[in-house]
Amino acid sequence: MKHFINLKDIPANDLRNIINDAKLRKKLRKKLSTLELDKGTPLKGKMLVQMFEKASSRTRISFYLAIKQLGGGTLTLRSNELHLGQGGESIADTAKILSEYCDGFMLRTDSEKKLEEFKKYLSIPIINGLSPSSHPTQVLSDVFTVEEIKKKPISQLKICWIGDSNNVLNSLIAASVKFSFQLTIGCPKKFQPGKEIREFLKKNKKTINIYNDPKKAVINADVIFSDKVISLNDKINKKEKIQEFKKFKINKKLISYAKNNCIFLHCLPRGDEVEDDVFLGKNSHVWQQALNRVHVQKSILLYCFGKLR
Ligand code: CP
Ligand code: NVA
Repeated sequence: MKHFINLKDIPANDLRNIINDAKLRKKLRKKLSTLELDKGTPLKGKMLVQMFEKASSRTRISFYLAIKQLGGGTLTLRSNELHLGQGGESIADTAKILSEYCDGFMLRTDSEKKLEEFKKYLSIPIINGLSPSSHPTQVLSDVFTVEEIKKKPISQLKICWIGDSNNVLNSLIAASVKFSFQLTIGCPKKFQPGKEIREFLKKNKKTINIYNDPKKAVINADVIFSDKVISLNDKINKKEKIQEFKKFKINKKLISYAKNNCIFLHCLPRGDEVEDDVFLGKNSHVWQQALNRVHVQKSILLYCFGKLR
């Protein structure tokens, strides 16, 4: 049984195998419609529970489709509808019950501790569907999307992040170590990656260039990533933070400093960090990026269930 909590804790080979499996599965599904099953229905009879403590559109729908296409089923819960969320039941007991009823558990939570607690008491795999410090299913899928569009291993590309030092960036940084790609970051000094990330980079002998000038960060980039300035449940002074990020707004002028065929990716939902003519423009592949979550999460589920080819 394998969990999928943080990219930094998963062997690079396993991550590469998941991507390879997703490539093949996506190709084999070309002529199938949304709910037609993958040949062999490898997760036939398996049940995934998804629990959300925060809003979600893409993660919820893509996991639904992922398990369905593999032959299994899913139930989506809001934590506040459970005894756990009402404070009337412990994580330990909830985890035991989930392990009795189901085969896998996907959790979107506002607490890293909860992920660890669930992991401790579950006897089924747990998948992190976004936590305050990481968004691993999103970023693994984004690596897949980059390679699909660029038709090259991501290790040969220059990746740039313009935005906040948030959960998605943390996972992108972990991915830059696992997949050995060049990463530059453009963000205000005040919102640079923190001590824990710097220590992780040092431990892995990885250098990432951080610029407080967006132009310097995007020069020669093959891929520009961004995300909302204000994340879900961000407790910070929103007005002030948005103001600090004003000069980091992604517009046509900014992306003209990147390579000509540079692509723009964004995990969605979006805020004010990118102009419409970039988000909806020719460099943007955000819809393909969102759809690929289904394909990659299928292979993540297979990995967790010990069924990866
Ligand atoms: N990108 C992403 O995880 O979207 P949702 O918050 O809609 O799930
Ligand atoms: N950084 C964002 C990602 C949303 C998918 C958030 O945590 O809200």
